[in-house]
Amino acid sequence: MTNKITIAIDGFSSTGKSTVAKQLAKHLGYVYVDTGAMYRAVTYFAMEQGFVSSEIFNKSDLIAKLPEINISFKFNQQLGFAEVYLNNENIEKAIRSLDVSNLVSKVAAVSEVRKKLVEQQQKLGKDKGVVMDGRDIGTVVFPDAELKLFMTASAETRAERRFKELIGRGDNVSYQAVLKNVQERDYIDTHREDSPLVKAHDAIEIDNSNMSLEEQFQVILKLVNNKINTA
Ligand code: DC
Repeated sequence: MTNKITIAIDGFSSTGKSTVAKQLAKHLGYVYVDTGAMYRAVTYFAMEQGFVSSEIFNKSDLIAKLPEINISFKFNQQLGFAEVYLNNENIEKAIRSLDVSNLVSKVAAVSEVRKKLVEQQQKLGKDKGVVMDGRDIGTVVFPDAELKLFMTASAETRAERRFKELIGRGDNVSYQAVLKNVQERDYIDTHREDSPLVKAHDAIEIDNSNMSLEEQFQVILKLVNNKINTA
């Protein structure tokens, strides 16, 4: 029997964490957990309830309503990955909008939100055999993960990728607006008080600015196999 390990993938927004995490989970038969989707789901809920907008940030009402938020993942055979649900509503597409992206870092800085989601993430990964991506997986959620990766790429490269993704799904956005969002989120994610985005001391940094998806997958798969064989 092969050893199951925990793979923590952290890094800045739009570094392709989820793409490689999905590839790995499929290849290894592991569970993939997109923790960014969970913070986006809470943000979507807060926007729907009118607690959060570009003008409003009603933190106390959001905290009071946290027990009413139930986030789950359901595997979609056709897509090949698990989609995120908020109180049984499929919100996978809705949470990827620039509107949600513009507000999510503020919501993710609320300690009560983090506490709730970190607890759920730890439950989802308790049996190992999991690939989890986010900002604090190797530092807070699974500090004992056998393999920790920290993904980076220039802000311009990341904005270009996100811009193409949004245009591809029919959103009307400008490259400049996407670049601004990427830079603002980098700043908030790395400067917040609770669990700021930092590279864990034992994480392996991967700058994929000049790597193809296949090159990146092969580099990471080698690291994974080394860990599985020595775990
Ligand atoms: O990975 P993403 O871009 O979908 O994440 C959305 C936001 O959620 C990101 O700007 C920061 C926050 N986040 C976080 O604070 N901690 C995580 N583990 C995952 C995401």
